Amino acid sequence: MVKKKACVFISGKGSNLVNLIKKSREYNFPITIKLVICNNKNAYGISYVKKFSLPLLIIDTSLRNYENIILRNLEKYDITFICLAGFMKILSNKILDKYRNKTINIHPSLLPKFKGLNTYKRILDKKEQKTGCTVHFVNEKLDSGKIITQKFFYIQKQDSEFSLKQKTQKLEIYALPEAIIKIFRNNSI
Ligand code: GRF
Repeated sequence: MVKKKACVFISGKGSNLVNLIKKSREYNFPITIKLVICNNKNAYGISYVKKFSLPLLIIDTSLRNYENIILRNLEKYDITFICLAGFMKILSNKILDKYRNKTINIHPSLLPKFKGLNTYKRILDKKEQKTGCTVHFVNEKLDSGKIITQKFFYIQKQDSEFSLKQKTQKLEIYALPEAIIKIFRNNSI
């Protein structure tokens, strides 16, 4: 199988990243990770990039030309698919224009509900019955592109922000690879 060359963008812990790295080493998984881009030099996720000897670009998104640096690196590694896995910066149109319908994101709520930050607190405040995670294509509007996969669980009375996060992130480990398989199985990009 010819795997698509993918870049994963991270800012933090990197649990989705390490899961994807492992998955991408499976023969039948449709992508191979050729580059990781991180906008936080202290992100724990960087330790996985080093452990698995992957190319890494640490980008300072306050630089005026940071998008050009990203684009140059995406070209250099011949990237055709982008996965945002906890990247805490909105991808600009300059990058999206080149990677429209080839960029996905994982978000910790059942979109279209609870776009943006502070999801767990808002979910509890609203007394939702269930929550989960969503993998979706990225467009220019925040957390609004076409949904690929969702996974959910029912919220218990004793749940806190911490437990919601733990439960959601457990589901994300399944949702992200599943979404990627779905995209390429349907040949939707
Ligand atoms: C995930 O919960 C994801 O939904 C959100 O950011 C978190 C990233 O976690 N967008 P990690 O860095 O993959 O551990």
